[in-house]
Amino acid sequence: MTLEEISRLKSEGLRECEAAKTLPELEAVRIRYVGRNGFLPQIMKGLKDVVPDERSEYGRLANEFKNQLCSALDLRKKELASGGSEDGKPLFDYSMPGIWRGLGSKHPVSCIIEETVRIFGRLGFTVAEGPDVETAHHNFEALNTPAHHPSLDRSDTFWLETGELLRTQTSPVQIRVMESRKPPVRIITPGRCYRRDTTDATHSANFHQVEGLYVDRNVSLSDLKGTLAYFAREMMGPGVDVRFRPHFFPFTEPSVEADFTCHVCGGKGCRVCKNSGWIEIAGAGMVDPRVFLKVGYDPEEFTGYAFGMGIERIAMIKYGINDIRLLYENDTRFLGQFR
Ligand code: PHE
Repeated sequence: MTLEEISRLKSEGLRECEAAKTLPELEAVRIRYVGRNGFLPQIMKGLKDVVPDERSEYGRLANEFKNQLCSALDLRKKELASGGSEDGKPLFDYSMPGIWRGLGSKHPVSCIIEETVRIFGRLGFTVAEGPDVETAHHNFEALNTPAHHPSLDRSDTFWLETGELLRTQTSPVQIRVMESRKPPVRIITPGRCYRRDTTDATHSANFHQVEGLYVDRNVSLSDLKGTLAYFAREMMGPGVDVRFRPHFFPFTEPSVEADFTCHVCGGKGCRVCKNSGWIEIAGAGMVDPRVFLKVGYDPEEFTGYAFGMGIERIAMIKYGINDIRLLYENDTRFLGQFR
């Protein structure tokens, strides 16, 4: 037999081995190749007639053939043994109905958080996180919120026996980040917040906010407006604009409330926006110089803006959900709609 013939036989043998559908079929392949009168013993016998020049190559090829085919036979045998029976009929019953595993879906709150992080990520914001159990220093004092402010009241904030509290906003993460980093700072912080609110269609004692903070030289209120306008369009769709209304927060000056064009009526006025054409989305403003002093930033050198918005609120507006409680009841008939 020539070297080419051996090579060809080898590929044929390996192919037949793989193609065998049942154990008897495989056994026939084995007999044809490695059985007493099979190809391989024949090849081995032929070695003595090969011209001396070719003898070593012939021997190498013959051994390679034998080894590869034997392992292929073994492997195929194991495969067939685990999936088929001796009589050649497959053990697997293809007519059996499949097992239905219900697929989960992402929670709408998670969808909005992920989308928000993606949108601000494109503007260079990175995610920062802080603890749910906060100190009064981070949640109030460093945010320039005086001790007599109503939000410190027992009836508004969950105070712990340790003197710590469940954060009422994500703003304390601003403080943590500024205390530990030098400007420029450009962060977004999604997270849970807690307030002693009585639950109704639009309030929950446990909800989510996303906070944004940008500190650098020459940051202005128009930067804030441009950034929120970009977010508004990316989140709610083209044609959505932003307007600012003067407001007050202890840690920003000036402070604003930011409204988005009602995406349902396009600003004409409808039931969703209570005929105003606008929907209130965020609290925001320029970081108060007193906050900078508390974290050791020089307010003469740096300015910055901050904003905070309710995730549930965005989810409700975007998806047309009319009761916040639906977001917490884990009813799969509701949650399954957000795939
Ligand atoms: N923390 C404020 C709130 O919960 C929102 C806010 C964030 C306002 C950042 C200004 C700047 O209402």
